[in-house]
Amino acid sequence: MAKLTINGQALEVDAPPDMPLLWVLRDLLKLTGTKFGCGIAQCGACTVHVDGTPLRSCMLPISAVEGRAVTTIEGVGATPAGRKVQQAWLDLEVIQCGYCQSGQIMSAAALLAGTPNPQDADINAAMAGNICRCGTYVRIREAIKYAAKAV
Ligand code: FES
Ligand code: FES
Repeated sequence: MAKLTINGQALEVDAPPDMPLLWVLRDLLKLTGTKFGCGIAQCGACTVHVDGTPLRSCMLPISAVEGRAVTTIEGVGATPAGRKVQQAWLDLEVIQCGYCQSGQIMSAAALLAGTPNPQDADINAAMAGNICRCGTYVRIREAIKYAAKAV
């Protein structure tokens, strides 16, 4: 049994220690907002926060997150930065097909939590690992700046 803390809730899951966190989230806990894209930490679709840091859950064994706070797209709206980012995404209609957007929002929320007024270089660095096949990058950048101005 692995002891995890997901979105503020302490849980025990019956899973081997090397099972990727993404598998646990989606298949065992039915938290399907976090997406499977590439499975090799190259696309960002599976991004979650671990103690506030955005990480790719597809290659993160659950043994690495025991005792740490995991936040997923289902819980990030409870954080100030996550709430602002989600509202900005809605207001500016960022989403196209939507598949990559949980990961985009998680990376953007982590950026704003640590850098409340990000410049283009900050956004480039924070968002470089999140791929969008629909090419929503321009709206994502606008929405991050919009969220940074939100009170
Ligand atoms: S599914 Fe994890 S980075 Fe692509
Ligand atoms: S919105 Fe379709 S992949 Fe990003």
